[in-house]
Amino acid sequence: MTSTARPAVVLAMEHDVATALFDQAARHRLARSAVVDPQTVVDDFADPAHAPALAGVEILLTGWGCPRLDAAALQTMPRLRAVIHAAGSVKHHLTDACWERGLVVSSAAAANALPVAEYTIAAILFGGKRVVEISRRFAGSRRYEDWNARYPGFGNYRRTVGVIGASLIGRRVIELLQPYDLEILVADPYLDAETAQGLGARLTGLDELLAASDIVTVHAPELPETRHMLDRNRLGLLRDGATLINTARGSLVDTAALTKELVAGRLHAVLDVTDPEPLPTDSPLYDLPNVLLTPHIAGSLGGELHRMAESALDELDRYAAGLAFAHPVTPGALLRSA
Ligand SMILES: NC(=O)c1ccc[n+]([C@@H]2O[C@H](COP(=O)([O-])OP(=O)(O)OC[C@H]3O[C@@H](n4cnc5c(N)ncnc54)[C@H](O)[C@@H]3O)[C@@H](O)[C@H]2O)c1
Repeated sequence: MTSTARPAVVLAMEHDVATALFDQAARHRLARSAVVDPQTVVDDFADPAHAPALAGVEILLTGWGCPRLDAAALQTMPRLRAVIHAAGSVKHHLTDACWERGLVVSSAAAANALPVAEYTIAAILFGGKRVVEISRRFAGSRRYEDWNARYPGFGNYRRTVGVIGASLIGRRVIELLQPYDLEILVADPYLDAETAQGLGARLTGLDELLAASDIVTVHAPELPETRHMLDRNRLGLLRDGATLINTARGSLVDTAALTKELVAGRLHAVLDVTDPEPLPTDSPLYDLPNVLLTPHIAGSLGGELHRMAESALDELDRYAAGLAFAHPVTPGALLRSA
C-alpha cells in the first residue's frame, strides 16, 4: 500500500450523509489526517466543478449515496489509490473497474454491525419473554393473565437461539449472547465446527437449526443462493411458537409463506426488513400482536453514524502510516458478502 504523510482525500456521498457522519471533532480529525476540503462533497463524478479536486485525489472517503465508481468516473481520478467507505456494503458504488485499477478498499461494515447486533439481542430477549405481545394484550384487557399458561416454555432460561450466517453481524450477535443462559446454534456453509465452537456456538445444518431453535435470527447476505432460503418448507420446520427475527434482507424469507404462518398465530416475528420494503399498507403484519415490524432501523442511525465515521478515519490513519487496512474488502470475499 502506498504511504503518504497526508494523503489527498475527497468525500463522495450525499451531502446530508456527510453532515450526519462527521461531527465537529471528526472534521478536525479528518483535517489533521488528510489534505481535504470537508465542505466539498462529491455526489456526481461528472460535475466539472469537482474536476480539480478529483484530479488530485488519492483516497475517496465514501458514504451512502456515493455515485458508481465505473471506468468513466475513475478516469477523472488518475491518482486514486484507495476507497474508504464510511458505511457497510460497498456493492452499490464499487465496480469491476475498481479492482482492475488495483484500488485498495476498506469498509465500516464491522462498525455498522454493532447496532444491528444490539437490536437483535434486544429482539431475542424481548422475544423470549413475549414482551411485545403481552404488552399489546395487556393494553387491550387491562388485567393480569396467567402468562405461564398462555406461553409454555416462556422466558430466556435455557432456550435455544439459532443464528443463520456467521457474518460480521451474526458473529457479533453470538458474542453478545455469551453471558446469557442460552444454547446458541449457527448455520453457515462457510463455517467449520471448530471455528463455530471458538465463537461460542454449535455448528448445525440449516434444517436442523430451524427445527431445534426457539428463536431464529437471520444474518446471511442477500445473494442469488440466499433468496427465499426460508421458504414455506423451511418455515414449516420451525417449532410452534418459535420467533423469527430478520434484520438481514426481506428477500431471504418468502413473505407470503411467513405471513400465512403469522396470521395463523403459529409463529412470532421481529422484522426490520421485508420483501417488498415497506410492505403494502394493507399487510396484516402491521397489526398482528405476534409481529414486531420496524422500518429498517437496525443499522446505524443518528449518533451511530459517528462510529462508522471513526472507523473510516482509523482506516485513513492506517493508510497514511503505510499499514494495511483493518477492514479490507476484497473482490473474492464480496461474492459471499453483503
Ligand atoms: N437492517 C439493517 O439495517 C442492516 C444493516 C446492515 C446489514 N444488514 C444486513 O445484515 C446481513 C448481514 O450483514 P453483514 O455485514 O454481517 O454480512 P457479511 O458481509 O459479513 O456476510 C458474509 C458472510 O455471510 C455468511 N454467509 C454467506 N452465505 C451464506 C449462506 N448461504 N448461509 C449462511 N451464511 C452465509 C458467510 O460467513 C459470509 O462470510 C446482510 O443481509 C445485510 O444486508 C442489515
